[in-house]
Amino acid sequence: MVAPVPGLQRDRPIGVFDSGVGGLTVLAALEAALPGEEFLYLGDTARLPYGTKSPASVVRYATQCASALVERGVKALVVACNTAASAALDALAARFPGMPLIGVVEPGAAAAVAVSASGRIAVIGTEGTIRAGAYQRAIARLRPDARVTGIGCSVFVALAEEGWTDGPVVAQVAHRYLDPLFAGPAPPDALLLGCTHFPVLAAALGALVPPGVRLVDSAATTAQAVAALLAAGGCARRGRPGDVSRSRFLATDAPERFARVGSIFLGRPVAAGEVELIDV
Ligand code: DGL
Repeated sequence: MVAPVPGLQRDRPIGVFDSGVGGLTVLAALEAALPGEEFLYLGDTARLPYGTKSPASVVRYATQCASALVERGVKALVVACNTAASAALDALAARFPGMPLIGVVEPGAAAAVAVSASGRIAVIGTEGTIRAGAYQRAIARLRPDARVTGIGCSVFVALAEEGWTDGPVVAQVAHRYLDPLFAGPAPPDALLLGCTHFPVLAAALGALVPPGVRLVDSAATTAQAVAALLAAGGCARRGRPGDVSRSRFLATDAPERFARVGSIFLGRPVAAGEVELIDV
């Protein structure tokens, strides 16, 4: 049993986790939005992918990841994995009462609703995320007349983890998943990347969708939501001009691979020596 962090300590790091390196796309937005904050990022690389696992397994993995971060003294938790947020957010809230907690699904839904004029929104994510229906519900809460189509695109996770972000293989897989979405008489005007692995494929996917379709992901809106949550709780660091954020990295397997592939997702180099191997 892990006790929640007592109180809200400004100078503690913000915990962020994902099944692997995908959540680094969210970390990049957090670093940009919250200069002066420190982040502790955990990639559960030993057990990736989460997207094809049962909800019970994902809840167990997410609870173990969150526990590892709470034990290390984080002041807030960001579930930077749509699959884990879809399956486990309620379980995490119950397990860590009082811990500020944010998943990527609500912010992602808000981003999609904000750009869609027609209310026809396509969500692509892992099998688990789409099956859980969390995006469909979150979008309906914000815009009850929205028409949401969800497609599980688990192969995109493998491509992104391989560092294959463009080229003919990506295009072929993307056509197979996306073409049916836009073939009907009333196609969506927004494509929500409902998996934190997908933003690295955004340029390739954007080139294949019909003109006018807006691609959105949850990174920037999640960062805004975290900033608002910290401010409301009085636990944001008091940044000074010129402050930069700092991140530390934990992985449950293959730290050197995490560093190599993670650099693509974070958009800056990560050295293997910066990644600590842990067991959860
Ligand atoms: N990055 C995870 C997400 O946002 C999915 C990757 C996986 O299947 O583990 O859903």
